[in-house]
Amino acid sequence: MSDLETARDLYLSLLSECLIGSLIEDSVLRPYDKQRRDRGLDWPLWGISMIGRQRMAHLRKAMECVLREGVPGDVMETGVWRGGACIFMRAVLKLHGITDRRVWLADSFEGLPPPDPNSFPADSDSTLHTFDRLRASLEDVRENFARYGLLDDQVMFIKGWFRDTLPTAPVSQLALLRLDGDMYESTIITLESLYDRVSPGGFVIVDDYHGVEACRTAVHDFCARRGFRPGIEEIDGMGVYWRA
Ligand SMILES: C[S@@+](CC[C@H](N)C(=O)[O-])C[C@H]1O[C@@H](n2cnc3c(N)ncnc32)[C@H](O)[C@@H]1O
Repeated sequence: MSDLETARDLYLSLLSECLIGSLIEDSVLRPYDKQRRDRGLDWPLWGISMIGRQRMAHLRKAMECVLREGVPGDVMETGVWRGGACIFMRAVLKLHGITDRRVWLADSFEGLPPPDPNSFPADSDSTLHTFDRLRASLEDVRENFARYGLLDDQVMFIKGWFRDTLPTAPVSQLALLRLDGDMYESTIITLESLYDRVSPGGFVIVDDYHGVEACRTAVHDFCARRGFRPGIEEIDGMGVYWRA
C-alpha cells in the first residue's frame, strides 16, 4: 500500500470514528457498548451520525466503487440529521480529487413529519415526529460541514418536507442514493421521486430496512408497483443496499 493510500485509510477511519462519536464513547445509552455502535444501534449524544461504524465503512466502499467504475451522477442522502454521513461522502469525493460530483442533502431540518395515516397507514403508530433529538437545523448542519473543512459549493441543501421538495428536486442523475427517513412516507416518496434518476449500477442504500418495518414495507410496495425484485444485500443486519 502506498503512503497516500495509508494516509487516506487513516483519515477516513478517523473521520468515521469522530462522526459516529465513538472516540469519546459518546452514547445516549449507558454504559457505552462498542458492539452497539458498530451496528448503529444506539444514538450519539454529540456525535453527528447515528449510522454506526459498519454502515459508514460500507458507505466508503459504495462511494469508491462508483468512482472506480465511473457510475455517473451525484450522491444524495434523504434524511441527514446532523449531516455526518454526508460529510463522510464529501470527504471521499475530496480525497479522490472529484470536482464534478455534488453531495445533496434533503431534510426538513426540523425533524420528522407527523404521520399522515390517510395516505400512509403504515405510519399510523409513528411517534418519531415528537423526538426532539431527531431535529437538527440547516445552520447546525452547515456548521458541522465547516468544522470538518468540507463546506463548499459541491454541497447542496434541499430544505423542506420530502413530499414538497423531492418530486421537483433539481437533481438530474445520481450514482448513490441513501435513504434514511425512518418512515413509510419518507421512504416511498424518496423512491417515487428519485429512483428513476439513479444511474444503472448506482447504489440505493436503505438505512432503516431492518430497523423500521414501515420502511421495509415501503421498499417492497415500491418494487412491487414497478414490477422488479431488487437484489438486496445486507450491510450490518440493519441497513441494506442494492444496485440499480
Ligand atoms: C434517522 S435521521 C437521519 C440520520 C442520518 N442519516 C445520520 O447520518 O445520522 C432521520 C432524518 O430524516 C429527516 N426526515 C424524515 N422524514 C422526513 C420527511 N418526510 N421530510 C423531510 N425530512 C425528513 C429528519 O428530519 C431526520 O433528520
